[in-house]
Amino acid sequence: MSKKRTNKNKKTNANSPVIEAVNIEKDFGDNHVLKGINLSVNKKDFITIMGRSGSGKSTLLYVISGIEEATKGEVFVQGKGISGLNDRDLSIIRTQKIGFVFQFYNLMQSLTAKENILLPAQVRGAEYEELEERYEKIIDLVDLRSQQDKIPSEMSGGQQQRVAIARALINNPEILMADELTGNLDNVTSENVMNILKNINKELGVTILHVSHDRELVKYGNRIITLNDGQIIDDTRIQ
Ligand SMILES: Nc1ncnc2c1ncn2[C@@H]1O[C@H](COP(=O)(O)OP(=O)(O)OP(=O)(O)O)[C@@H](O)[C@H]1O
Ligand SMILES: [Mg+2]
Repeated sequence: MSKKRTNKNKKTNANSPVIEAVNIEKDFGDNHVLKGINLSVNKKDFITIMGRSGSGKSTLLYVISGIEEATKGEVFVQGKGISGLNDRDLSIIRTQKIGFVFQFYNLMQSLTAKENILLPAQVRGAEYEELEERYEKIIDLVDLRSQQDKIPSEMSGGQQQRVAIARALINNPEILMADELTGNLDNVTSENVMNILKNINKELGVTILHVSHDRELVKYGNRIITLNDGQIIDDTRIQ
């Protein structure tokens, strides 16, 4: 049985949060995973979400990006309540407002780096000129120009992760969400990828939410949120 969708919108202005989660709860069957999350994400925030395995970090990202529906509460993306959206509008949020990067890259193995990066924009039906301009900017930001004609199996883990980041940015999203971006990378490669995220945050003004186990990496962001057993137990600004 589907949950009744209600349309709730908030007035927005330049200082409105990019994302606001209000009393979010998420159950999987009897498993009460998120237990009342309240979170306001400001434009250009670079948030690291930390917490033990099973504390609900990935679930929180999925719920606030509309991949999973909240059991209770409401998520507002740029002032729009996402539970009130029809499937078409929800898909615009997922594909254009928010870029998502997963731990295991999820690249198409038969496509080159360039083809992988362009794919979400082609699905959207973007104009060729707009796309080329955006691609040229992003390929340098992720430092992959020399790799653009390779397929994933010809690239290192760090290079593949940078392809996944570029792909998440091609539709010019306001927000980039990344789940354990550096989980499979060595320290030096992780730092390289984190510096790229920092540039994306600074130069493109993209708001970033990054789930990580690695306390060493919090220094790249401006805010650390700690989850414990489905609740936010700490929210610290570090700049
Ligand atoms: N699709 C699902 N169906 C059922 N239970 C789920 C599902 N996704 C997550 N869970 C449960 O929700 C809880 C939180 O999982 P989640 O993946 O959000 O944790 P996490 O903090 O990201 O952990 P990790 O650091 O190991 O990735 C776990 O108990 C998990 O078993
Ligand atoms: Mg997880």
